[in-house]
Amino acid sequence: MKKVLLFSDPGIDDAIGIIYALLHPQIDLVGIVTGYGNVDEKQATANASYLLQLAGRPDIPVIRGATGPFSGEVVTYYPEIHGEDGLGPIRPPENLVTNVHRFGAVHELISKNKGDLSIVDTGRSTSLAASFILSGTELLHSVKEIYLMGGAFNYPGNVTAVAEANFHGDPIATDLVLEKGRNITIIPLNVTNRATVTTQMLDTIAVYQSNPFSSLMKPIIEFYIDAYKNLIPGLNGAPMHDSVTLFALVNPQYFHYIPRRVRVDTSELSRGRTIADFRAKPDDEPPETLERIAIDFNYQAFANDFMNIMTRR
Ligand code: BDR
Ligand code: CA
Repeated sequence: MKKVLLFSDPGIDDAIGIIYALLHPQIDLVGIVTGYGNVDEKQATANASYLLQLAGRPDIPVIRGATGPFSGEVVTYYPEIHGEDGLGPIRPPENLVTNVHRFGAVHELISKNKGDLSIVDTGRSTSLAASFILSGTELLHSVKEIYLMGGAFNYPGNVTAVAEANFHGDPIATDLVLEKGRNITIIPLNVTNRATVTTQMLDTIAVYQSNPFSSLMKPIIEFYIDAYKNLIPGLNGAPMHDSVTLFALVNPQYFHYIPRRVRVDTSELSRGRTIADFRAKPDDEPPETLERIAIDFNYQAFANDFMNIMTRR
């Protein structure tokens, strides 16, 4: 069983990631840190709270994270991909029962679960970087592992020619996390763009699904698939960037990794570009500075697992 503190910006694929974590028998979701990204922080907090309410899990705390990056404008809001409020055609109700905490709760949660906590960040890196600054690197080193969804290695970006959205959103924050963090695994676009959920998969899930998310999943994923149709010609379905990152956490055996030190470009021209030394003979780096970059994976194992988990009760 993995205890998971999830940093997230729901957003459709984040929302599906949260649902995946809630339904997964090997994931104990101990908290969700919500930040700006696909939507603003307030909306991300409302969306996460709504999913927890649907799940009947008001015990899971939602912690309000960053409202903007360390540098540059808040590059956020992709309403054409995630919908105006981040959940496609769905709006969370006004009268939500919430269990919302201030940012300091991150520190308490990490301290409480020392040595037994996995952090998964599927949003911009600002809140996680702020945890390193405010809670101290030593406490963050007590975390078992950190999984980041982001980056694109010798592979086209999705917000600029060279950058992926999460690492582009706040490159200073991502670079800080990579520099200070230990046991980091990166699940980049190279993998996540291929982790698609198709209309056929969705139809099959709808037949068997009788959990609290039944009425929500089909409309939001359909919205997301439609949005992606124009974005990546020839793509069959829509990429579940954030769910495949959680899948990797519990199923690391289905991925192929390359260990490299990763830096993130903070310059304006290629903001958010991930840099790793893929030469045949890379420069020597101390082992503790290396990240594990997932570069390939078993798509069929992911697709089967996704359908299984989403149809659990
Ligand atoms: C990442 O950016 C966000 O828009 C998605 O939710 C995902 O986390 C993909 O680049
Ligand atoms: Ca996300």
